[in-house]
Amino acid sequence: MLKSETTPRPRRAARLLAALLLTAMPLLHAASVDLMPIPAKLAWTEGRLAVDGSLSVALKNHDDAQLRSTLTRALRRWEERTLLTFRRTDTAEFVLASDPSRAQLVIDCAAPAREIPMLGDDESYTLTVSAQQAVLSAPNTLGVLRGLETLLQLIQRDADGWFVPAVKIQDTPRFAWRGLMLDPCRHWMPMEVIKRNLDAMALVKLNVLHFHLTEDQGFRVESKTHPELHLQGSDGKFFTQDEIREIIRYAAERGIRVVPEFDMPGHATAWVVSHPELGSAPGPYVIERKWGIFDPVLDPTNEAVYKLLEDFLGEMAALFPDPYLHIGGDENNGKHWNANERIQQFIRDNDLENNEGIHAYFNRRVRDILIKHGKKMVGWDEILHPDLPQDAIVHSWRGREGLAAATAAGHATILSNGYYIDLCFPASDHYHNDPIPADSVLTPEQQKLVLGGEATMWAEWVTPETIDSRIWPRTAAIAERLWSPREVNDTRDMYRRLGYISRRLEEAGLNHERNRPAMIRRLAGDRATAEQIAALSLFIDLIEPVKEYHRGQHHHEHTQHTPLGRLADCARPESFVVREFSYRVGDFLSAPANARAELAADLEQQLTAWLDAAQVVTDFLKASPAELRAGAPVATNLHEVSGVGLAALDAINAGTKHPASWRTAQLATLEKAAKEHDALLLPMLGAIRELVNAASAP
Ligand code: ACM
Repeated sequence: MLKSETTPRPRRAARLLAALLLTAMPLLHAASVDLMPIPAKLAWTEGRLAVDGSLSVALKNHDDAQLRSTLTRALRRWEERTLLTFRRTDTAEFVLASDPSRAQLVIDCAAPAREIPMLGDDESYTLTVSAQQAVLSAPNTLGVLRGLETLLQLIQRDADGWFVPAVKIQDTPRFAWRGLMLDPCRHWMPMEVIKRNLDAMALVKLNVLHFHLTEDQGFRVESKTHPELHLQGSDGKFFTQDEIREIIRYAAERGIRVVPEFDMPGHATAWVVSHPELGSAPGPYVIERKWGIFDPVLDPTNEAVYKLLEDFLGEMAALFPDPYLHIGGDENNGKHWNANERIQQFIRDNDLENNEGIHAYFNRRVRDILIKHGKKMVGWDEILHPDLPQDAIVHSWRGREGLAAATAAGHATILSNGYYIDLCFPASDHYHNDPIPADSVLTPEQQKLVLGGEATMWAEWVTPETIDSRIWPRTAAIAERLWSPREVNDTRDMYRRLGYISRRLEEAGLNHERNRPAMIRRLAGDRATAEQIAALSLFIDLIEPVKEYHRGQHHHEHTQHTPLGRLADCARPESFVVREFSYRVGDFLSAPANARAELAADLEQQLTAWLDAAQVVTDFLKASPAELRAGAPVATNLHEVSGVGLAALDAINAGTKHPASWRTAQLATLEKAAKEHDALLLPMLGAIRELVNAASAP
């Protein structure tokens, strides 16, 4: 907590003098914007605000407990980052200066934020930093929250100490709905996973936690009206209602809404474990332990289904304050409906035409229940149907056409197609997935219906140990796409800034980098030498897990209970080392011949290190147990591919061109190395191919 200062600060004159001297010193002009997301408007100005442990902070205008706790958390993170210790009272509260005109940081907030944030709340702020003072102004505390994140990202240091570069920022988000979906169902994710990811979301200005709470593999929320749902559907792994309230409060303090999802009528196995009579087939049902699209589906002709939903959704509507409630609606394969003559007769009797028709009937019934409880319905894009009430929000995941079709029908939409971070695609793919690109096919009216988007972290292939590494830092690129102007779209600069934000995320408690060394040590075993561990770590920096849902083909025997600690779990979804290598290959090949030597030496050194590590790793993996041995062909391929790269580099450096037959042989080696083994792939093949092409005759 913060406490206002009642007596003037000592040594103010001394600090003022120091500040004056600083402005007279050579001025630093920040050459680059290291922020993520990049603000709507930013202009560097002259000078820098030096910061040390005597930082003076003042509140101007609005002042309440919410604002003070927001500021306290920011100052604590500021201290942890800089190792400065700001002044505290005897009761451990940060000291607030009484005179804003003389404070180094002024929070000029006009009004409180809502206790619970809502869609469309004003998140804007302005931040003006001069050599004397940083002033953060916002219409409400939500804007202060967003602005403090920017300020924390601006802090940097050089030999003279910590400072904030002088700047003028005016910022406001492009889209109002900027979400991350978490799935604690496929693999259980306890409170700490949710909380640290809320911290991370706030850091990159995401504002919706889409909480996917029911699935074939688990019913993860406590129901007091129907406790059998979570007691029989969750193996005891569920959030109590007190925990849900704690998550909602924790999220609200960070300006994040919590939108729950209860997936129905499909993805509903865990519902019908305790209520087989509500399923469309006779049952009995057991919790699914593997991955895929399963047959169990609620019976839309059974009034008892709506009775249970009335109880359960009423209860959840009271528990979750957000006006939006997600009912899933995805991937009903229709098999149990087709096999049920009563359901087919109901379709005929009610002119519902087909399974889509009875799904739409079910959605209307559910929507009426939600409306009664003051909630608006959100559903995955399968809910789109001519009979879908206009007020339902369509969540597009199967293709961009969904966005166009839903908005053409007048529905507000959220985009997740292109933001499936569980598929392990590069951040650049997500980054360029603009909900409304410059050449959008949507009319201006349709564009207004696009509320924003959500990254989706389906949890088939993650555990609490690995989930952060699948979400971060790539989701920061999606956060920027949804916050920053469309014109902010330089891929290489995004990757450069992703490096900074990755460190900030780690400082905030995320484990996306931190867990890897321990996982590698565990995988390598106690007998591995330091050289083998080092080589294995480099190897893991250079490989990627397979994309899309290919992992299920490699590790089809995996269930909910299979530990996830193999090479594919250690590897980052996207190798940033290889990304950088590929950029350097491009730089090298496009540099004039007389400027190539240094770049060539760099690439040669890197490829030689890969070659050496690949040999050590190949030998090590071949002599290891099966779960490691399976990755040996990838190490062998890396060895060969590095050799190809080195040979190509030699030829380019010597100014010679290999004959076409050489190129054919090298490309065949690369082709062989493209084969997936043990759910792994090598991402540098494209860059090596460029070297091969440059080294051979056309
Ligand atoms: C989904 O990915 N089934 C929405």
